[in-house]
Amino acid sequence: MVLGIETSCDETGVALVGRHGVVAEALYSQVAEHAAYGGVVPELAARDHVAKLLPLVKNVLADAENATGTPPNIGAIAYTAGPGLVGALLVGAGFARSLAYSWQRPAIAVHHLEAHVLAPLMADATSDSSDLGESNIEPPFLVLLVSGGHTELIEVVEFGVYRQLGATRDDAVGEAFDKTAKLLGLGYPGGPAVEQAAKTGRAGTVVLPRPMLHSGNLDFSFSGLKTAVRQHLGERGTSDLDDQARANIAYAFQQAVVDTLVSKCQRALDQTGHNLLLVVGGVAANQCLREHMTQQVGSKGVDVVFPPMRWCTDNGAMVAWAGWWRWQAQQAQSDLGFSVRARWPLSELEAMTLIQEDETRLVVA
Ligand code: KG4
Ligand code: ZN
Repeated sequence: MVLGIETSCDETGVALVGRHGVVAEALYSQVAEHAAYGGVVPELAARDHVAKLLPLVKNVLADAENATGTPPNIGAIAYTAGPGLVGALLVGAGFARSLAYSWQRPAIAVHHLEAHVLAPLMADATSDSSDLGESNIEPPFLVLLVSGGHTELIEVVEFGVYRQLGATRDDAVGEAFDKTAKLLGLGYPGGPAVEQAAKTGRAGTVVLPRPMLHSGNLDFSFSGLKTAVRQHLGERGTSDLDDQARANIAYAFQQAVVDTLVSKCQRALDQTGHNLLLVVGGVAANQCLREHMTQQVGSKGVDVVFPPMRWCTDNGAMVAWAGWWRWQAQQAQSDLGFSVRARWPLSELEAMTLIQEDETRLVVA
């Protein structure tokens, strides 16, 4: 099995993954610590990862033993090496690298976005029916990656070979949700708060732009949308905003985001001719996006796949899973050094060619 450690932002995630999927997982979300500041405070995030990692690892090892009846046999330790907050990444990387050294196992530097991309292929090894990974996902296909830090349209040429077709020129979608929630006084994190408020919003009461919808390319821009919300609120801000007015703005904002994402995905599918779309990252937890993308893009004969809800936002399982893939592709590291990267384009990764499966491992070309 591979032990995975995620500390790129404000979630401490730990999980054990084997060839049949996730055996045990634990997650600690720091949202309460950062809520007072309205966003993630990097220094606090790093400190909190230090406090939470060891207890979470202990829990995961104990849960795995309970689930399987034997102490877990760990072959490698995977950690998120980037992109993310450098201080937070260093905590996970140093911790994972030390475990690898003391257990005499290889360490695997995982790309956080590749972990998001591979999440829909992940299964829950302890359950028979639910959360079965999508085994019919074969490249080439398209991925819409929508999180707090990234908004990208990616072509998966083969596993490990990623081509960026479009990206945001300013704010990421999750960031736009968070900033809009702050403007509306809806708390943090903004995505779930805006989604909740939008449920009682009335259609057609507030009109917001769909940025770059007709730009002719596959790029996005979301900072203008946030500015439009600010302008709509005017100088008085939220001072005389009642719940209904707040819900109407949340509804209009969410609808503008979803319309834009659906339409850019449709254009990317038309241009590439692919008939499979994966939607991943924290914003993929948004029900309105899940429904509209499935209905509108899915009605045109394209398979639209989302990870289960708990594997949309950051978690240790997807890191262990991506680490498992890289380990099977013999791309683990055995030296002692490690580095983390705040920025790290997906296009720099190496291909992983898995040609044949036998009982014990995937064999690499
Ligand atoms: O993938 P993730 O956990 O962390 C990053 O790698 O960035 O994504 C977090 C982002 C946050 O901006 C959060 O507001 C957004 O995902 N998010 C949502 C929802 N749940 C989380 N956005 C819209 N609707 C949601 N239900
Ligand atoms: Zn993420």
